Amino acid sequence: MTRFRGGLSGTGLVKRFRRGAETVSALAGVDVAVAAGEFVALVGPSGSGKSTLLALLCGWETADEGRLAYSGDLAGRRPDTFGWPELALVPQALGLVADLSLADNVLLPARLRGSLAAELPRARALLADFGLDHLADRYPAQASLGEQQRVAVARALLLRPAVLLADEPTAHQDRGHADRLLDAVTEAARGGSAVLIATHDELAWARADRVLSMRDGHLAEGVPS
Ligand SMILES: Nc1ncnc2c1ncn2[C@@H]1O[C@H](COP(=O)(O)OP(=O)(O)OP(=O)(O)O)[C@@H](O)[C@H]1O
Ligand SMILES: [Mg+2]
Repeated sequence: MTRFRGGLSGTGLVKRFRRGAETVSALAGVDVAVAAGEFVALVGPSGSGKSTLLALLCGWETADEGRLAYSGDLAGRRPDTFGWPELALVPQALGLVADLSLADNVLLPARLRGSLAAELPRARALLADFGLDHLADRYPAQASLGEQQRVAVARALLLRPAVLLADEPTAHQDRGHADRLLDAVTEAARGGSAVLIATHDELAWARADRVLSMRDGHLAEGVPS
């Protein structure tokens, strides 16, 4: 299995949303960098721009100003050309496929690149690790929100992506499950992934190598003051 490694950076990122006469400045000139092997926590109040930044970094949205760059095996690439092995995302709204079982949702990245059989043991291990093994055959609508969120994290981790972006991945978890997810995220970084997670969980900040604080579209190093 080809394993990609690389980091990411954004420089001078500006993103505005226009709705009629109103313009929301979601990102007001953000510099950000995450190296391969680094676990960075992105914190900040609701509406401060965390999800917008992740949307730019994964290629879902385009910046009005500024530039993105990826390094290592991802050098010279645009984010909208990445597959799950290059960049894996846990969206805030999870984005599970409604007509696939939970196990098949976890296996989706393997199915897309034709390595289903090879990834079955890892998918089973992630399901067990996240307390989902007894739910493997259920569909997303038959699982709790916390269970669905753990599926979305397992799906993102399956192929040991070069870049892992996760938007509040422990938001719907009790402490025990949150810690298990954070263990897995930390392990991904120790294994070489560049990890950036938006989170309101102070125990996640404590485990990160670095914390970045977002406020009103501006980003600063360190925990919020
Ligand atoms: N599509 C959109 N159209 C207009 N405004 C938007 C859009 N998406 C986001 N915004 C606005 O941009 C700002 C940043 O939103 P964003 O979702 O990035 O915040 P966040 O930090 O992720 O918040 P939360 O912690 O609640 O998830 C907010 O003021 C939000 O209302
Ligand atoms: Mg958000």
